[in-house]
This record gives sequence, structure tokens and C-alpha cells, in this order.
Amino acid sequence: MAGRAAATAILALGASYVILKQLKNKRRSRSSFVLKDSMRLPRFAEPHRYDIELMPNLDTCKFDGKVAIRLEILESTDHIVLNAADLNIYEKSVSLRTSATRQVLWPTRIELVKEDELLILTFEDTLPLGNALLSMDFQGTLNDQMKGFYRSTYTVGGVNKNMATTQFEPADARRCFPCWDEPAYKATFKLTVHVPLDRVVLSNMPVNSEAVNGAKRSVFFEESPKMSTYLVAVVVGEFDFIESTTENGKVVRVYTEVGKKEQGKFALEVALKTLPFYTKYFGTAYPLPKLDMIAIPDFAAGAMENYGLVTYREATLLIDEIHSTAANKQRVAIVVAHELAHMWFGNLVTMEWWTHLWLNEGFATWVSYLAVDYLFPEWGIWTQFVDQTVEAFRLDGLIESHPIEVEVGHVREIDEIFDAISYKKGASIIRMLQTYLTPDVFQKGLSEYIKRFAYKNAATEDLWAVLSEVSGEPVEELMHSWTSQKGFPVITAKVHGKATSVELKQSQFLSSGVDGKGEWVVPVTVAVGSYKVTGSYLARGKISTIELPAASSESPESDSEVPSWIKLNIGQTGFYRVQYDEELAKRLRSAIASNSIEPTDRFGILEDTYALSAACKQPLSVLLSLMEVFQKECDYTVLSCLIDVSYRVHQVVNDALPAAAPDTKKFISSLFQTAAKKLGWDPIPGESHLEAMLRGEVLSALVSFGDEDAIAEAKRRFRAYVDDRRTSLFPADIRVAGYKAVIHDSKGSDRFGYDSLLRLYRESDLSQEKNRILGTVAASSDPLMVREALDFLLSPEVRSQDTIWILSGIGLEGREASWTWLSENWDTIWGRYGETTPLIARFISRIVSQFTSYEKADEIEAFFATNAPPALDRTVSQSIERVRIMAQWVKHVHQESDLVDLLKKLASGGEESSDLSRE
Ligand code: BES
Ligand code: ZN
Repeated sequence: MAGRAAATAILALGASYVILKQLKNKRRSRSSFVLKDSMRLPRFAEPHRYDIELMPNLDTCKFDGKVAIRLEILESTDHIVLNAADLNIYEKSVSLRTSATRQVLWPTRIELVKEDELLILTFEDTLPLGNALLSMDFQGTLNDQMKGFYRSTYTVGGVNKNMATTQFEPADARRCFPCWDEPAYKATFKLTVHVPLDRVVLSNMPVNSEAVNGAKRSVFFEESPKMSTYLVAVVVGEFDFIESTTENGKVVRVYTEVGKKEQGKFALEVALKTLPFYTKYFGTAYPLPKLDMIAIPDFAAGAMENYGLVTYREATLLIDEIHSTAANKQRVAIVVAHELAHMWFGNLVTMEWWTHLWLNEGFATWVSYLAVDYLFPEWGIWTQFVDQTVEAFRLDGLIESHPIEVEVGHVREIDEIFDAISYKKGASIIRMLQTYLTPDVFQKGLSEYIKRFAYKNAATEDLWAVLSEVSGEPVEELMHSWTSQKGFPVITAKVHGKATSVELKQSQFLSSGVDGKGEWVVPVTVAVGSYKVTGSYLARGKISTIELPAASSESPESDSEVPSWIKLNIGQTGFYRVQYDEELAKRLRSAIASNSIEPTDRFGILEDTYALSAACKQPLSVLLSLMEVFQKECDYTVLSCLIDVSYRVHQVVNDALPAAAPDTKKFISSLFQTAAKKLGWDPIPGESHLEAMLRGEVLSALVSFGDEDAIAEAKRRFRAYVDDRRTSLFPADIRVAGYKAVIHDSKGSDRFGYDSLLRLYRESDLSQEKNRILGTVAASSDPLMVREALDFLLSPEVRSQDTIWILSGIGLEGREASWTWLSENWDTIWGRYGETTPLIARFISRIVSQFTSYEKADEIEAFFATNAPPALDRTVSQSIERVRIMAQWVKHVHQESDLVDLLKKLASGGEESSDLSRE
């Protein structure tokens, strides 16, 4: 806000843009995430209505445009400042027609400021206050960078064709038409698009009328309600669609590539039920006359919530009954529910500025689980929500994290905050608050907030104020510590003897093990000995003592010799970790072994113990003994967490005590045998969604950890499939296990696995299947073949949007080869993907994250010190911090005496195993 006021003041004084720029440059030292040079448009005028005409040429990939903006001049000024980028503006076409004086004014100066993406119009005299109409003609390019108005490609009957589509969030509407490209400048939009006769054109609103002009068709769309520029959308191409109507009478369509409309059915069903669900939940009807959802072959994000025309990657919208997995379906449901949530939270009520992006994304993430739980109660999606919290912990435990609310100045900084903090920490603290306020009160508050701010903008404080008003709780005070500072607490819990109280101490948890300085207001919950007895408290300050719920004597354990267990953070709804003293940890271990702890809490205990171990706060042996009590685990979410933890344990042992790595793998494999036996390799008729997902995860983990039986079976089924695509031996849910098994053994001249995978890749036209293959091709144990896979990534056969999948398959065995490849090809990679920050960021984070030594951290740091631009600072420093944290863990584990013996014991299982598992 300060920045905007400053810019306004300077320009209002009539100073030239040069002064403004000098001021900015002085501040442009990019040392921290918080930049003070807030570059917001001066509020000389505000737009009310845009009349936009676009004429894309799908052969030359250029487009012509006209815009007429009805606006109001608010301040005495001779400037109008708005945004434009990569556009040629026809100078002679720029005019301002004022209402008051009925004059047509021509600017004396038209300036395009490339660096700040501004269009500055200077007029001879001070402009009259009040309404005016600003018009101009321009030309632009349908670019290949998946932002602005861009080109995507598809093939019909072997012929390559172009389509034109838009992606404007966060700040790329200005690449399509000159506009006030900030979320707070809401206006109505009326679009007209001229397209070839045989093409479909879609936009936010329904078509009002059409006219044919020779080889072109002019399509006039209805005027939209008031909305932000980043939500405007246009798509031109060839599509099929399926449609249906919601119970409230809204027509919903899913558009797909020609011939694939059946694949839109699942998403259509989800949308049909989700819209009425949100209508009820938010207490406000879906605000637009129709909803279209469309799959775009080249797409940078996963999906985009354009008002009334939601765009998706193919993989997040389309489901093939045979080749999609249960996990693919769940992803589609979550993504659709997320984007549709934005129709209210984001589109109807919009964040005032990008600092509040987390409100949009954290909220949509949280509420998508609510909708999916309503649609598919058997999926246990709230149990799976804990993954969101953990992924947020992983980033927020770094020194290089950032607060949820971030000051954002230049548009280039916005991309960086679409991260796990805005989405996952945001969603997690909303869940924490909802639990604290109770679901009913929370819902009341939200629907009031939506009503009050509909068609307007809001900031974080506005939401807290409404929630306080409705609940009577001090929401602002409670939430401030979570949104304004980075990090989160670990709560250390201690009891003394048979005491009835627990002593809690909070400190900031950092993945490096260092104690941070942060302090939070923590809603603590506790269960004692059974879930019948629970309590909740607000812990303020460093140390607090909570009285245990008195009824604990009634718990079943009270008669037995075993004292009651105590579990904090029931259901993992709080955004904190817990460290128990030895006695409490032991009780929890036996409670898990005796199956008296709920899945989310088992998950929490395992995940916190892992994190404390990796931060060198507890020996690895403590984690290993805990893992051992999960032998019989069959819950999907808990097992996925165990698999994840196992990969990291294997990584640390592999680098600290290589001789013990085989025992580690054996021990880890033993943990999954119960589940593997129960699930088998073939779908069981009538099985649940979670069983189908778990089968895929467990079998692929067993293959990765070298379980010989699993590898042999995976290979057998893969071969059967290569020989006959119609075989039922290789259903989609187990394919990754098969792919991993054969690629791992592809080395030297034995190219069967790699070559077969490429053949399957070329054959498939389902994005999800292609991604699955890409996700494994770089997992060979032969460095040369890893390089070959990475070279393939740069070939025209892989769309830029999909390169991330290949990177995700790189493992320990391929890390050196992939780092060498990255450094050798850096210029090419930078040249190709440099404009797409999130994509290039993955190249770094994926490859760097495999390393665990200080020397490598130094080498990587030195490399990027000279090779990476500021936009990647954050990614580079986060990745290097992670390597150093791993290096520290490796050092500790290396020094941990007895580990080799312990792992041997664990690997041999049975008699020799530690006493804990038998308690
Ligand atoms: N608003 C985002 C899309 C977006 C992301 C635009 C980054 C610009 C930059 C959209 O609502 C979104 O969050 N999509 C997610 C999927 C979601 C289920 C988490 C995505 O793209 O991954
Ligand atoms: Zn979103």
C-alpha cells in the first residue's frame, strides 16, 4: 500500500516516469523475499467495463485486438497508467473520449515501459474527472510460453494444428490486451472473438450472438459480472463436449480433444454435484449462467479457475476407464473441487492484492477436501489431508521459508508464492481454525464473508473480522502468529510419574535441529488412553501446563498394568509437531502395536518421529524401532507415509553406512509384506478405492526396495503386457511397479525395459499413462541410460509441461549422472524453460534434492552463484539448505554406534527383533 501511495504521489505531482524509475532502482537489491518497491498502478483512473475484440490467426500465430475501456477518472492528472506487455500498440488508434466535455483527446506521448510492463499515456492537459472511454488497437503474438494468449498444439488424423488459449493468472492478461491488471480493479468484460468458421470458441460467458463474415465467424459473448482481469479466458480450437444440468439448473460442459469426450464423464459428474454442494455451503448461488471445463494439451499449472471457463491439463480432467488409476481419479476430483471452490472464494470474492494469495489457494485447497469427502465418503480424504500438512512442514522447516502473508512488489515475485506455504500451510491453518471454531460456526462465518464481499475484494483481516463477529472468538489474535511469521512450533510433552498434568514447551521447529525464535498461539488438543477422553487448550507463551481430562481413570487401560498413553494434536488438525519424552513415546509405541490409535494419529507419531530424527534431535534407532511396530499396517495414508519415510531412511543409511544398506532394504521390505499379501496383484472384485490405490503404492515400493518376489512378478506382468495389450494381468494401478522393475535392470546393451517403455509412451494418447512412463524412465541403475532418458526429456516428443515427470523419476543411482547432465546442458535448459519459472525451478529442486554431502552443497552453490538469475534464488537456496540438512543427518547416523547391529537384527526379523514390537 505504501508503494502505491508513493507512486501516486510522484506521478500526481506531475513528475515524469523517470523519477519513479530512479526510486525503484535504488531499492532493487534483491536480498530478501520481502521487497519494498511495491509497484502498483497509480489510482488515477479505474476501469468499469472492457469491450474487447480479438482476432487470432492460427497459422501465423499473431493476433489483432481492439479494446474500449469505460473508465472513471478519479484524480486530476494528465497521465493514464495501465499495464501492457509484448503488445504492439497502434499509436494513432489511442484515444480518450471524455463524458463531461464530450471531447476526443489524443495522448501527446505513449510510452511502453518494458521492464515494468506499463503503458503510460500522457495528455496535453489535465483530464476532466468523471467517465471516459479509452480505446486502442494492438497486435500480439500467440506465444509458446503457456502464459498470456498462447499457442497450444494438437494433432488430428496425423496433422499438427494450433489452438489459441489463455492463462492470465497472476499477471498476464496484459499480454493479451492493455488493462489494469491487478486483482482489485474489478470490471465487467464483453468479448468478441473472430475465428475461422470450423473452430469452436469459448469464453467466460455464454455466446450472445454470432455473425458470419466470409471465412470468419464473429462470436459476441455476453457481458460478464464484475471480475478481476486474471480470470478472463478465451479458447479457440476443435473440441467435442458432453454436458448436463445441475439440480439448480446450471448447464455444465466438459470439452475435450475431438474423439475423447467420454473421458470427460467423471469430471462432469464431480462438477454436477460440487456446484450445488458449494451453493449450499457458501449460501450463495453459482454466480454465472454456465460452467465450461476444458482440457488443454499444453498447460503450465495443473488447472486454472477462469470464471465460467475452467482450464485444465488433460491429466487433471480426463479419465479413461481402463488406463486411469484410482489415484488419477482422486486427483481429478480434488482438482475439479479446488477450481470450482474458486468460483466463490477467489472469483466472486477476490484477494485485494497478491499478498493475500494464500486466502485464495489455501482456502480452495482446504474446501476441496470438504467437497470430495461429501462426494466420496469412502475415500477417507480427510485422513489423506495430513499429506498437505506434512508437505507444508517440509518447506516451512527451512530457514529459507517465508510467512503466509508476503509483501509482493514486482509482478515477477508473484510466481514464487504459488508454493506449499500458500497452498498447504494455508489449508492446514484453515483446518486448524475450523476445528477450533467448530464446523458450523466456521461455515456461518464463511457464508457471511462471501455475501458481504461478493463482487468485491478482501484481505486476510476481513475474513478474520467476520469470523470473530460470528464466533465471538478472538480470531485475529489466534491467527496472527500463523500468518505473519514463517515456521511452526514443536511442542515437547513431559509427564512426571502418574501425574495428572502434562508440561508443554514450545519452540520453533527447524529441520536443521536448531531452535528457532518463533512463538505461536497453539490450539492444543489431547486424548488420553482412549478417544473418549479428550481436551483442548490454547497454549500461549513458551511453557504451559495442561491438566489432563479427569475422566482418564475410566479409560480401559486404567485396570491394566500399562499406564495410559497420551496423544497430542488429535487427528493432526493442528499445525505443529510433538516431541514426547521417552516414557510417553514408549506408551504410544505399544498403543500402536495393540491397534488402539487412529490412522491420522499413527501417521502423526510416525511423521514427527521421522522429522525429529532427520533434524538430529533423536537417534535413528528410535525411528527404526517405531517403524517396526507398523508391520501390520494396512491403512492407505499411514502406509504411504511409511513408504516416504522409508525412502529417506534408506537414503541416509546408504550414504552414512553403505554396508548396512542391504539390511535396511530388507527390513523396509518386511514392513510391507502384510499389506502386499492382503492386496495381491489383481484387483479384488468389489474392492475399495483405497485398496486399489494402496496396491499400486505398496508394490511399487517393494520393487524399489529390491524385494525379489515383487520384482519377478512385476517383470512377468510387464512382459505379458508388452506381448499383448489386452491382457488383464497388468491393470493401470500396478503399472508403475512393472515399469520400475524393468527400467532398473535396463543397462548396457540390455535395453529391453527402456525401449519397451518408450514404445508404450509413443503408443499411448492418454496423458496420465504417458506421465507414468515418464516418471520411471530415468530410474535406471545405469548412468548412461539415465542420461539418455534426460536427453529424451529435451526432445520434441516431450511437451515442456511434462518434463517435470522425468525429473521426478531420478533416484540415488542416477543423481551424479543427472547433476552432470544438468550442469552441462544448463544453457540449453535455461534458454528453453527459463521463461517458465515453476518449470525451471523443478529442474533444480528435483536433481539437487538427491544429494547428502556438504561438498556437493558447496559445489552446487558455486555453480548457481554464477548461473542462476534472481528469480531462482529462493529455489536454489531452499534446495541447498535441504542438502546440508541431509549431510548433517548422514554425519550423525554415521556416528551412531549399534546401528549396523540393529539393522541386521531388524532385517532378520522374528526372534532377534527388538523387544518393543512384542509389547
Ligand atoms: N489458481 C491456480 C492456478 C495457478 C497456479 C495460476 C500458479 C497461476 C500460477 C489454480 O487454482 C490451482 O491452484 N491449481 C493447482 C491445482 C490444485 C488442485 C492444487 C495446480 O495448478 O496445481
Ligand atoms: Zn487454486
